[in-house]
Amino acid sequence: MCGIFGYIGQASKTVEILLEGLKSLEYRGYDSSGIAVMEGSRARVVKSEGKLANLRQKLKGMTISGHVGMGHTRWATHGVASTTNAHPQVSGSTIVVHNGIIENYRELKRELLDKGYEFSSDTDTEVIAHLIEERTKAGMSLEEAVMGAFGRIEGSYAVVVMSEREPGKIIGIRKFSPLVLAVGDGEYFFASDTPAVLPYTHDVVFLEDGDMAVVETDGFTITDLSGEVQNRETTRLSWDPVLVEKDGYKHYMLKEIHEQPRAVLDTIRGRFNEESGDVHIEDLQPGLIKDINRIVLIACGTSYHACLAGRYMIEKLSRVPVEVDLASEFRYREPMTGDNTLVIAVSQSGETADTSEALLEAKRAGASTLAITNVINSKIARDADTSIHTHAGPEIGVASTKAFTTQLTVFYLLSVFFARALNKISNSDGQALLHDLIKVPKQIEIALKLDGEIRELAREFYTFNHFLFLGRGINYPIALEGALKLKEISYIHAEGYAAGEMKHGPIALVDENMPVVLVAPDDDVVFKKTLSNLQEIKTRRGKIILLTTDGNQTGLNDNVDRFITIPPASNLISPILAVVPLQLLAYHIASFKGTDIDQPRNLAKVVTVE
Ligand code: M6R
Repeated sequence: MCGIFGYIGQASKTVEILLEGLKSLEYRGYDSSGIAVMEGSRARVVKSEGKLANLRQKLKGMTISGHVGMGHTRWATHGVASTTNAHPQVSGSTIVVHNGIIENYRELKRELLDKGYEFSSDTDTEVIAHLIEERTKAGMSLEEAVMGAFGRIEGSYAVVVMSEREPGKIIGIRKFSPLVLAVGDGEYFFASDTPAVLPYTHDVVFLEDGDMAVVETDGFTITDLSGEVQNRETTRLSWDPVLVEKDGYKHYMLKEIHEQPRAVLDTIRGRFNEESGDVHIEDLQPGLIKDINRIVLIACGTSYHACLAGRYMIEKLSRVPVEVDLASEFRYREPMTGDNTLVIAVSQSGETADTSEALLEAKRAGASTLAITNVINSKIARDADTSIHTHAGPEIGVASTKAFTTQLTVFYLLSVFFARALNKISNSDGQALLHDLIKVPKQIEIALKLDGEIRELAREFYTFNHFLFLGRGINYPIALEGALKLKEISYIHAEGYAAGEMKHGPIALVDENMPVVLVAPDDDVVFKKTLSNLQEIKTRRGKIILLTTDGNQTGLNDNVDRFITIPPASNLISPILAVVPLQLLAYHIASFKGTDIDQPRNLAKVVTVE
């Protein structure tokens, strides 16, 4: 899960375009970076350990000019983060950047060593460079060499290749890792993700698995690995480049938290008819759910938490049994899915390897499949029988925020859709449920007004080393998500638990050094039960932050240290609102601790390795 970028166009702009492209891909990996620019028929390669800023610094004062170039920002898989292991990787005249994993690289490396090739890095990528070099040295054209080399390679890859033997050419090839070819005015770009090219063009070709795009200044051709021409459409992207700027916010994460009213509105817009109480989601047909007797939700990380809340919504409204599985677990336990099972894969990026593989596993087992992703045309969206798009817009911060609330929104819509298709709810029930949903963007706006108050709360609590997050029912996943947000960006140890489980173990942790965030919006059943947790924590001198519905504070002042309140909402809507203050809490605690909020240590936005 690295970011790759390629450019062919105006010589004077190449270095700056490569650096800007890498900047917008840096969320994909940031332990080292590098660029290569073809100067005449010689490639200049400059690499640096650490963040892109180090590479920029190193390039200061260097004059590099050439109209063809490539760049890479790395998240280490094979070989430590170092300048040597940074990309581009070079073999003789061949220069390569790669995102993915070469699964048979050990075997290929052994073969190449036997042939006398020397390896200067510990990366799997270096075998690609040697395999191509071996072939161009023997007289093949760069295209032939690339086709021959990739005929030997197993695994996942998006690769950009240049050669000093054919300096006016740049080739991109992909399988299982994303790569787009963007078409500008007299210039072309390769990128791992579309936001990186938006400042230059909105015209993009989504390369498909097995595609090889050969680009020169006067045009491009796309073939498969046997050289057969592939016709691929150019898509005009509607994303506004402003969406991928920080827009005055200090971090992408904060900007994305504040974008949630718009993101939720965009996700519901045009997808329901309030008068009939029906939901219409693009090509989703009511027939999809008719013969289904079991739904399985699969995802990782934050998307998994959305699935846990989605289960409550679907079961409550449609009465179809739902299971939720971590994609990484689902894959390896011979899941019992068949004709009457619907498997829903949820992924912001649409690229997560575990989720993608689990989806394919479900397809092989005969299940119907549906994807919920934020990236149109992503692998998971394309592999599923049907897909639904969350209209969150590009999410750059590594900590997922607006993707989560829009996933919950899609689950809500889907639950109403299933329930109406199965006649489990009436028109008027549908109308009432949709009426509740329409209010959400405004309610999130109200929750966001807590920003200043939560910052003060964070100031008070940021020095604690441990946090416990508790929630019940549909808000148990919100406790898990609150804990995940806090740990991933502040590096504070935080655990999420089902509130009812507290007495079965976690209560042993509670003392005056353990703040407990109790997620308990008003609810006829579970709120009262949560009050007993509150009592149990207070008795053990725990510090309590109660996240509840506005107006619910009465009588609780003695036991609660701090309140966070959200607007009144139904039980199924409450998680969409409750998570917002927890995102802000994690953000402000991390901000007081001075961590790298948008690019927390050891993480990457897109996890394309198992
Ligand atoms: O792109 P995906 O939704 O498939 O990503 C899944 C997880 O890697 C992701 O949610 C991760 O847990 C985030 N860093 C959480 O903020």
